[in-house]
Amino acid sequence: MASRRCLQRALSTTSFKNSVIWRSFGAVPQATTPSSSQELINSEYQYSAHNYHPIPVVFSQGKGSCIQDPEGNRYLDFLSAYSAVNQGHCHPKIMKALQEQAQRLTLSSRAFYNDRFPIFAEYLTSMFGYDMVLPMNTGAEAVETALKVARKWGHEKKKIPKDEDNGKVIASDMSLTQLIHTQAIIVSCCGCFHGRTLAVISMSCDNEATRGFGPLLPGHLKVDFGDAVGLEKVFKENGDRIAGFLFEPIQGEAGVIIPPDGYLKTVRDLCSKYNILMIADEIQSGLARSGKMLAVDWEEVRPDVVILGKALGGGVIPVSAVLADKDVMLCIRPGEHGSTFGGNPLASAVAVAALDVIRDEKLAERSAEMGQELRNQLVKIQQQFPNYIKEVRGRGLFNAVELNSKNLSPVSAYDICLQLKERGVLAKPTHDTIIRLTPPLSISLKEVQQGSKALSDVLGHDLPKMQKEKPENSSSTASNICDRCGRNLHDSTHNNH
Ligand SMILES: Cc1ncc(COP(=O)(O)O)c(C=O)c1O
Repeated sequence: MASRRCLQRALSTTSFKNSVIWRSFGAVPQATTPSSSQELINSEYQYSAHNYHPIPVVFSQGKGSCIQDPEGNRYLDFLSAYSAVNQGHCHPKIMKALQEQAQRLTLSSRAFYNDRFPIFAEYLTSMFGYDMVLPMNTGAEAVETALKVARKWGHEKKKIPKDEDNGKVIASDMSLTQLIHTQAIIVSCCGCFHGRTLAVISMSCDNEATRGFGPLLPGHLKVDFGDAVGLEKVFKENGDRIAGFLFEPIQGEAGVIIPPDGYLKTVRDLCSKYNILMIADEIQSGLARSGKMLAVDWEEVRPDVVILGKALGGGVIPVSAVLADKDVMLCIRPGEHGSTFGGNPLASAVAVAALDVIRDEKLAERSAEMGQELRNQLVKIQQQFPNYIKEVRGRGLFNAVELNSKNLSPVSAYDICLQLKERGVLAKPTHDTIIRLTPPLSISLKEVQQGSKALSDVLGHDLPKMQKEKPENSSSTASNICDRCGRNLHDSTHNNH
């Protein structure tokens, strides 16, 4: 490795610069392979894009809710890879399915059939009560798929006029109003998070996710999450051109925002009234995370389209899916949409095992029970530190603690998470003031207690010292005002609950 680096340096400083393309085909030399946490962090920083701001801990082994770093330090995972590890790390039944299938067949592409996908498709559709599934890999891809399905349905079934400018460059002076009159519109919610692809970020209210990536895609309208009156107004004004309403039944990345009671039912009624597809993104909230199989089950409503991902892959490989009935799904015909890896036999076998575990271990019930326990403890901590904790909220093991940034200053939610890590608990802030607490659903009562004790200890013992040590002007003053809708998104007074 060292000699390769020397050669690279030499080439970049000689006249070969700009004229030689240097490529290495050698194996990674063992002698310089980083192994300590710090070396691994440094190496990732050097060779990987800086598109995350991780808590500095290196996962090296995982079992259930526990993580071990290369030095053998143990931690409790209170993030679960953003709910992709609902079943716990390296669940033995899921690992067995992975290993067995990996030895038989991993990929067919859907140019052919394979003997695993039909089993997965039947299982998933009957578990959730839909006619059909369209399999994909990541969550964002599944959201894109749902949007395409909705637009196709909108044009074919609802007879929304087709966009005549399709594929042409749109004149720069064309106003937004004109643009939205040429599309099968998707309505989404302020503060939503549906992934990172271009169509998806075009609906985002997160400036970090959108600035510098323009032009964003047209054909979207926004409403406040939880505001049924606002939703009906948008439907009334534009209903004949709206194909779908895409929403998270509980907004995850926004900070575990729960809509007011009755909202989901009203959304269902409005979507039916205006013939608009109700599209529930359950990628984070679904698969038992909120204490029900789907978060929409809290109000017993049936969306027209359900999007699943994350824990569908059992924390092992990316598996996502769009569920709908034939009337909607069959608007997509052969050749119109697809994915090389979607529905691959390895993913299908893993997904079947991942669903088996959720069902057999009653993870929805477990999430409801342990979640209540966790919230009880968090509320006690809030009573102990009312100045620091503004709100405790959640459903099942989908929980968040919103901190009072003024009283915390100059310490941030990120600093609190760093200190939680020192006390053996891994959590990640979302936005500046919210800490999401979403452990694997298999977590034990003792582990829940350990997690909440760590938070109590950080607020009680560590925080005063941290406040003294951190320079006054070092806390973030970044504005949360959305570039597009102008709302201050992460101020909880703007959320309707
Ligand atoms: C609600 C929701 N939708 C979509 C996504 C995107 O999933 P992925 O990161 O697998 O693309 C996420 C990821 O956090 C999510 O929370």
